[in-house]
Amino acid sequence: MKPDYLVNFDTRQLPQDYWDYVIIGSGIAGLYAAYMASSIGKKVVVITKQAVDNSNTDKAQGGIAAALGTSDSPELHYDDTLMAGAGLCDESAVKILVNEGPGRVRELIEIGARFDQKGGELALTKEGAHSRRRILHASGDATGAEIQRALASRIREDKNVLVLENHQAVDLLVHDDTCYGILVYDRSAEGLHVYRGAGVILATGGLGMLYEHNTNPEVATGDGIAIAYRAGAEVMDMEFIQFHPTVLSLPGAPRFLISEAVRGEGAYLRNRYGDRFMVRCHDLAELAPRNVVVRAILSEMANTASEKVFLDLSHMSPDLVRERFPNILKTCAKYGLDITRDPVPVAPAAHYMMGGVKTNLNGETSIRGLYACGEAACLGVHGANRLASNSLLDGLVFGHRIVECVKKYKIGRPKKQIEFACDWLDSGPVGYNKIRTGLRTVMNQNVGPVRTGEGLKKAIEFFNKYSYINKHEATSPPDMEVRNMLEVGSLIAESALMRTESRGGHYRLDYPDSRDSWRKHLILRK
Ligand code: SIN
Repeated sequence: MKPDYLVNFDTRQLPQDYWDYVIIGSGIAGLYAAYMASSIGKKVVVITKQAVDNSNTDKAQGGIAAALGTSDSPELHYDDTLMAGAGLCDESAVKILVNEGPGRVRELIEIGARFDQKGGELALTKEGAHSRRRILHASGDATGAEIQRALASRIREDKNVLVLENHQAVDLLVHDDTCYGILVYDRSAEGLHVYRGAGVILATGGLGMLYEHNTNPEVATGDGIAIAYRAGAEVMDMEFIQFHPTVLSLPGAPRFLISEAVRGEGAYLRNRYGDRFMVRCHDLAELAPRNVVVRAILSEMANTASEKVFLDLSHMSPDLVRERFPNILKTCAKYGLDITRDPVPVAPAAHYMMGGVKTNLNGETSIRGLYACGEAACLGVHGANRLASNSLLDGLVFGHRIVECVKKYKIGRPKKQIEFACDWLDSGPVGYNKIRTGLRTVMNQNVGPVRTGEGLKKAIEFFNKYSYINKHEATSPPDMEVRNMLEVGSLIAESALMRTESRGGHYRLDYPDSRDSWRKHLILRK
């Protein structure tokens, strides 16, 4: 069978470069892996689709979780992560996350990330399903932007690292289950380039753009997962998408995240009649696990015939609100809302992908020489529902482990210089723009936080209708994205149809209960 590619090409006719590591993506996982690799003298190229700070990391508000408080411990963090993960967390991965996490966060501080302090100590907040205050934050509610700033400025002055912005990963070059490099499209020069490396690391982030309503930047189109799957890598847990409960829902305003830390500091959720409904739904009320809060909000919206519920901060100290949430306060003010006083209209939106390219605890995928970390990867650390603020930590801990693993096993360069080519794709026009719009509607209607077998079959019909496109070239970056979105959308819908139960972020009206027989992962391979 011929390999699956997006474009016709011949590596013998393309410019080629060799690096120790080729890292795709410039969020926390990619930049931290680059920093680590450089610190052991490796030469690294970081390929990123737009500007370096166009990442989910940069948008992260609430913070980064680590057991650093005096009343906290990795054991408590472990318990909370497992509880949120709804029976599907890989326990070894969680142990690594919570035990190695504090050290990695300290390294981040050494690199220059400035987290908020209180009385000379790190200020720690709380979020849903955390039994302790353990979330570090920066500039109140701009934690991701501070981490991105610190890492990017460190990387910029690093002579071992070259960052290439406006470069889009196209396809992996894989032969006999070994990865030799990656085909990349230079958006400025409008041409293809081959980057070869002893290790190719996918750190491309999530796929929120598959949904009409999401919290992600526009680059989040699932590229890494699609590229890896096309090349024959295993993907896992694709049915588990996390919807964030509280995203600004105001006509004319963008879907802007209202951090879970707002509830962590004491905000209430109320329905249109002012009823504080979460106290009826869960012992932890507004701080229940995210999937629980999302479903409670959706049911409240349906019962009150409303498209939103409201976050109420009016009982909180206005000074505390201003100090903790300056970014949210400023954004909401643009739309005429004073969050210290006015109810803030919110609704759930797609936020985070628990599934992704399957890796082991060292970030190795099922293809030799191909690694994955961060949101694009899946080693089961988040189970069926990620604990709030564990994602930045995941990127740090497992990005670091890839480099450690390669160092330990002294994985060298692939011996042979194999060339790759494809000349079998048709070049006729395809209406990719229309498909992108249709796909987002189908995902919203049928593969959202509440699913049914019937809806999932409709989504699969949509994907099957467009499967002929795999025989066509996708030569422009937006077209390549649509191909990737079709690939991952179809994996999500297929996995969700297979899982005939409800668990964590995957809820089926026709199978509303969790089943012990489903305490297992779905692993797909082309
Ligand atoms: C938030 O600030 O609510 C997002 C944190 C996260 O997704 O972990």
